[in-house]
Amino acid sequence: MSDPRPIGVFDSGMGGLTVMRALMARLPSESFVYLGDTARLPYGTKSADTVRRYALQAAQALVARDVKTVVIACNTASMSLPALREALAPLPVIGVIEPGAEAALAAAPDGPVGVIATEGTVKGGAYRAAIRAAGGETVPIAQQACPLFVPIAEEGLVNGPIVEAAIRRYLDPLLATVPKPKALLLGCTHYPVLKTEIAKVAGPDVTLVDSAITAANAVAKLVDERDIASNAAVRSIRFLATDAPDRFANVGEIFLGQPIDPGLVELVDLQ
Ligand code: DGL
Repeated sequence: MSDPRPIGVFDSGMGGLTVMRALMARLPSESFVYLGDTARLPYGTKSADTVRRYALQAAQALVARDVKTVVIACNTASMSLPALREALAPLPVIGVIEPGAEAALAAAPDGPVGVIATEGTVKGGAYRAAIRAAGGETVPIAQQACPLFVPIAEEGLVNGPIVEAAIRRYLDPLLATVPKPKALLLGCTHYPVLKTEIAKVAGPDVTLVDSAITAANAVAKLVDERDIASNAAVRSIRFLATDAPDRFANVGEIFLGQPIDPGLVELVDLQ
């Protein structure tokens, strides 16, 4: 049986398009609806209660578009995974924290693991807990919040002196920790667009890890297990943004790795 309903994906802004890119490659017959809550970005500096409320509203907007599963393509909002699962049951919901923790342990099974993420993700300690739960009980973990990375990435800035200065500001102290991280987990879906510059600062002995591919594998497994995969020959891709759809289409291209037709981006209000 084929289930042609789309998979819903959301983030505070365009960062989740890095996950969407991996999902589109991994699941070529699936349709997708992506929502970027661009009017209320960033989530990373907001309280856990506010992020939970925003995440619920975003997920419900996707449910209203008849999605068959919801992917929280945002680390900060993935901390609200239990609340979303409860609110949307029996609809399956997947976050990016567990796939990210698995990817970090695959890259450096004994660590040390460095985690760079938003303030909210670092404060919530979700990665520490997920790495421990995934078998890394004794893995040394060092965390660093990088609040400037999201506005820089949303600006479409991916290299140059401002980017390098911001990366050095956060990475220099993290890389100076003893023991030095062997794997550096990009614990925010906005960060993969800064990967080339982060790699230059981190150096060749640090493996950069992001959760996009492991998250896409988890979604592939889920649609298979639940028997809700699509075998459509042609799929549809749609985008929703809570502000500035034209800007979303222009800058979003950097994150998705392919052009976004502005005609496919609908302005929505989640309030
Ligand atoms: N992309 C989101 C994440 O993965 C957060 C960005 C924000 O602060 O809104 O955490």
